[in-house]
Amino acid sequence: MPLESLTKMYPDAVKNYYAIGQFNVNNLEFVQAALEAADEMRSPIIIAASTGAQKYAGIDYLVSIVKTGAEKISVPVALHLDHGATFEDSRNSIEAGFTSVMIDGSHHPFDENIRVTKEVVDYAKPMGIAVEAELGRLGGIEDDVNVDEKDARLTDPAEAVEFVERTGCDALAVAIGTSHGAYKFKGDNVLAYDRVEAIKKKLPDMAIVLHGSSSVYPELVERCNKYGGEIKGAKGVEDDSVKKAISLGVNKVNIDTDLRLAWTGVMRQMLADKPDNIDPRKVLGPAREAVKEVIKRKMEVLGSAGRV
Ligand code: G3H
Ligand code: 13P
Ligand code: ZN
Repeated sequence: MPLESLTKMYPDAVKNYYAIGQFNVNNLEFVQAALEAADEMRSPIIIAASTGAQKYAGIDYLVSIVKTGAEKISVPVALHLDHGATFEDSRNSIEAGFTSVMIDGSHHPFDENIRVTKEVVDYAKPMGIAVEAELGRLGGIEDDVNVDEKDARLTDPAEAVEFVERTGCDALAVAIGTSHGAYKFKGDNVLAYDRVEAIKKKLPDMAIVLHGSSSVYPELVERCNKYGGEIKGAKGVEDDSVKKAISLGVNKVNIDTDLRLAWTGVMRQMLADKPDNIDPRKVLGPAREAVKEVIKRKMEVLGSAGRV
């Protein structure tokens, strides 16, 4: 199928309380893994590339690879800019063929976040391109020493309403205690589910997005470490926590770290197990399979499997 706008994919997820997975890619093998997984699981999928990924692979290569793969399968595929920092990042991505963009103004003061977000919405919306914005700051909440600090970091439901009204964004990324990368929590996995509930109550039709949602599966970390990695004290958002957030209204879940861990572990294992091998396919092929398996597992957890 041709690439689809996320504006067409969100309403079903919002209505039926499931989440569509965003999977970050940087190269051919990740794109193939993601699209094969989506096809086999009969799941809609969001392929995401950051500006870093665009720079690494070349934005035109990425768009071509994703379009080619999407044409081969019969489930909806959106191509999304992850964490665009500027209006230009969004415009470049849309001009190249992306069907959804994120403008991340979460580090700006409230009014400036609204201004940059609205600038992108005004440009993208008439073309049917979905716009995701972010309100609140990601980060583990048990690190906050007092209630005021915690409140300042998490997304405020009343502000969320004003933000959505004033920007007209299609999806809102919220801060409820998740963070990017493999080290999300020092102690217990603590998330502010009440924020999702309150935001959903006030904005029932809005697609709510959860960044930093990787589970950092222990077996993936162990495989990395067994073959020479040094990933110590890593901790993620367990599958059950992701499921709970979805049951309360999260509709898009972003995953990058779990794919990186799967990829790295198998790469390390293949290089260690076959020291005489110099055929890249014998390393990249199994790594691609491992990424695909993680994505399939995620699609079950998110409830997007079997929706197409
Ligand atoms: O949230 C960020 C994603 O994991 C993308 O990371 O900027 O290294 O491509 P990146
Ligand atoms: P993880 O680091 O938890 O995979 O989060 C990825 C993400 O939020 C991309 O936007
Ligand atoms: Zn993110």
